[in-house]
Amino acid sequence: MKSYLSHLECTSCGKSHSHTQAIRTCPNCGKVLFARYDLPSLKREVNREVFKGRRSDMWRFYEMMPVLEEGNVVSLGEGGTPLLHAKNLGRKLGLKNLYIKDEGLNPTGSFKARGISAAVSKAKEVGQTRLTMPTAGNAGGALAAYAARGGLEAHVFMPKDAPEANKKECQALGSNLTLVDGLIGDAGRLSQEKAQKEGLFDISTLREPYRAEGKKTMALELAMDLGWRTPDAIIYPTGGGTGIVGMWKAFEELRELGWIDSPQPKFVSVQAEGCQPIVKAFHEGSNESEPWPNASTEAAGLRVPSVFADYIILRVLRETGGTAIAVSDSDMVKAMSEMGAAEGVFACPEGAATLVGLKRLLDQSFFQGSETIILMNTGSGLKYLDLLDTL
Ligand SMILES: Cc1ncc(COP(=O)(O)O)c(C=O)c1O
Ligand SMILES: [Zn+2]
Repeated sequence: MKSYLSHLECTSCGKSHSHTQAIRTCPNCGKVLFARYDLPSLKREVNREVFKGRRSDMWRFYEMMPVLEEGNVVSLGEGGTPLLHAKNLGRKLGLKNLYIKDEGLNPTGSFKARGISAAVSKAKEVGQTRLTMPTAGNAGGALAAYAARGGLEAHVFMPKDAPEANKKECQALGSNLTLVDGLIGDAGRLSQEKAQKEGLFDISTLREPYRAEGKKTMALELAMDLGWRTPDAIIYPTGGGTGIVGMWKAFEELRELGWIDSPQPKFVSVQAEGCQPIVKAFHEGSNESEPWPNASTEAAGLRVPSVFADYIILRVLRETGGTAIAVSDSDMVKAMSEMGAAEGVFACPEGAATLVGLKRLLDQSFFQGSETIILMNTGSGLKYLDLLDTL
């Protein structure tokens, strides 16, 4: 198979950069880089139906993925997660077309597997074998797993109040774990310091171009599973925002390829009341978010006070007619049980937060009731067992 990756493009200054080097942010302005593909050739040479008959993981979309040599792919079978028609919840809420994309079934129990599989594979391809990263928890477990699988070295910096399961999996999967007395930003500084001192490659979210490419496969699967069309809305628990950015990018690419002709879905960001920089910026009409002071929430993945790709996320929410909404920790934890009892999906608190957000939006008559709405359950509740004691 052949990847149609052509170059990297800065999302801010627009400059092009080569994809054959180890690169993180734009060397010109320091902002987020996007991987770009030769879509006209892809459109001419490939039919979208080829993806159906292939392996069921995310690498079935190889042509739209950034790895040039198939042998460099480091995979544990990530992606190919079910899109579940949530009929029971839908009946309760008056929604006929409510779905849950259950990312808890990924290797290491969260959607982070997709981004990390892509980033680790590409790092390996450009000769980076010693990786470091700050994490809220789940991405650290994923890095430990994929580094082990690919024979790379992994260093993980994690706030010490991250879920126990994330710490234990990092240790069990052979990474070098440092627990940090602080938030993810403090972990980020330590990871950067180590990278500079020891020549490691830092794959912090959206500070390298390829994690978003892994996350984009969630949208490719959604489009394919819905018969090559977009849903009407995607409700997404937002921390660093890689998932929103990646999915929006995927739908743009599919539209450019002519493989879908429906509009972008409305993207809805759900955040925690104790850490809601995107919600605040969205409702204030700002194009950038301010760091959220004293960020605090049990949903570790949403405890991201400074959002590096804020300008892209806010643009996506506005351009697609979406919105942003903050929910409380206690509502999230209750919604874990509600989603579980109604649909058999044991969601993480971040995933359950999307159900709380949806109910809030229904109260505000944001939806008519006939739309196809996707709740992104980004991980498994099994990683947060201690939280359920608080019920
Ligand atoms: C379970 C879970 N959901 C959501 C998020 C937020 O993801 P993103 O960085 O794509 O906004 C995270 C990030 O750590 C997470 O672990
Ligand atoms: Zn730039």
